[in-house]
Amino acid sequence: MSAMAEIAQLGAPVLRQIAEAVDDIHCDGIRQLIETLKTTLANSQGVGLAAPQMGVSKRLIIVASRPTTRYPYAPLMQPTVMINPSFTPLSEAQEKGWEGCLSIPGIRALVPRYTDISIDYLDSQGQAVTMVLSGFVARVFQHEYDHLDGKVYLDRVVDNADIVAESEFFKLVG
Ligand code: NI
Repeated sequence: MSAMAEIAQLGAPVLRQIAEAVDDIHCDGIRQLIETLKTTLANSQGVGLAAPQMGVSKRLIIVASRPTTRYPYAPLMQPTVMINPSFTPLSEAQEKGWEGCLSIPGIRALVPRYTDISIDYLDSQGQAVTMVLSGFVARVFQHEYDHLDGKVYLDRVVDNADIVAESEFFKLVG
């Protein structure tokens, strides 16, 4: 089953739960989950997706980056499956940048995020990976990671004036 799954929308309890660690990467449920996430992301204009958005409260995300109509200036990065991810900021530096979320349609906001982070995760084969991320991709990672802790990006907005309708966002960046 790799059909595109329905994306949980803000208000769905699963988006507010602390997700459980994945303990058996090779079980059928996790293999299916990975395929569902990949397919759903490929069929969306998003640059990342977290398992809770598929209604599955597990610590598994996909981080991708590509220019799309939602993120016209995104750099290119192959979709990367990250299981039980964690991260450490490499400096205190944070930067506000625009985010949106497939679980919160029609809205964009400026969100402060660490600009440089070191991340650890297991890849889809169970291999441990350590990587340094900066800028937009570091932002996408932190956004998806938040979904595993029951947070959404609006929780991080520091000023309500930083929240805009998507139609206004496209005027700003267009
Ligand atoms: Ni999101």
